[in-house]
Amino acid sequence: MKVLVTGGAGYIGSVATDALLQRGHDVVVFDNLQQGHREAVPLEARFVQGDLNCFKAIDQVVRCETPDAVMHFSANSLVGESMEKPFLYLNDNVVNALNLLKSMENHGVKRIIFSSTANLFSDPSEMPIDETERIVPGSPYGESKAIIERFLHWLSVTSGFRYACLRYFNAAGATERLGEDHNPELHLIPIILQVALGQRKEVKIFGNDYDTPDGTCIRDYIHVEDLIDAHILALGALESGNRVYNLGNGKGFSVKEVVESARRVTGHRIPCEIAKRRPGDPAVLVAGSDKIRNELGWSPRYADIDSIVESAWKWHKDNPNGYEGEKRQVR
Ligand code: UFG
Repeated sequence: MKVLVTGGAGYIGSVATDALLQRGHDVVVFDNLQQGHREAVPLEARFVQGDLNCFKAIDQVVRCETPDAVMHFSANSLVGESMEKPFLYLNDNVVNALNLLKSMENHGVKRIIFSSTANLFSDPSEMPIDETERIVPGSPYGESKAIIERFLHWLSVTSGFRYACLRYFNAAGATERLGEDHNPELHLIPIILQVALGQRKEVKIFGNDYDTPDGTCIRDYIHVEDLIDAHILALGALESGNRVYNLGNGKGFSVKEVVESARRVTGHRIPCEIAKRRPGDPAVLVAGSDKIRNELGWSPRYADIDSIVESAWKWHKDNPNGYEGEKRQVR
């Protein structure tokens, strides 16, 4: 299959690109390199630098390549930032997705795997959160994803699109070659590991007065390779209909438990300081992923937090400055 991967130079998109190539697919990466890294794109993939906000640019790529399917990773994806800069999300994420979808419609490309989010569920009635839960976006970021999920529904009705919406809980960990490198880094696990590497003094824990056993927020961390396994399974299953899945391990860990895990894995004492709550953070988010387990036989390989942190630690130790300064591409 030929797959167009938008955001294929980013953290999750690059792992998808690599996994697709390893399974013998042909991959075209479209990325503006604003957050992504050229070095993260495997050499076997064709790379086009371009921005989805330019309809002509993406339309030309879809026309020339006519992929069999698209994986759409590229997006602004920070809950906190979306509370401060809503137009980056309600405008840019939405318009960029529309440009991609319009170009797909123009050229008869009708299969898409879409990166959605746990931020659709800011008021869950039950934990873990399964696909029957009411959608109440927790931020402009979550809202932008909810809007795009609805576009996909309607394009399926009107134009025969086949789609999978995959709602990620907290993606984490690394493969041997590819890891998490954001600038600035705002995610918990890489921040903790920067402390272990001596690049930061301490971890600020955003709030210890939540209604959880130790007072810190609980999240469901899912290894990026397991996440991408789910994409590949969903791609194969589009033939038999649209797919909507919540993706997590089904087990939550508090911020303090993640720090404890990193202390075990790194042997570093990792000093912490309690800070204010971060706006937009729900107390607990844990995924109910029975649907994809039952329907597609998905089964995450990294079930415990230490193995996830360990894989990230290995990558961060090998790449203390991330992709910066890396002279060669990953393969
Ligand atoms: N946290 C800290 N200190 C930090 C960074 C994070 O205490 O320095 C806490 C956060 O408050 C949160 C937890 O660690 O409770 C995880 O935070 P991350 O920033 O790593 O991840 P988020 O849960 O905010 O968001 C991630 C993705 C979103 C996605 C969401 C879905 O970045 O795109 O998971 O759950 F929507």
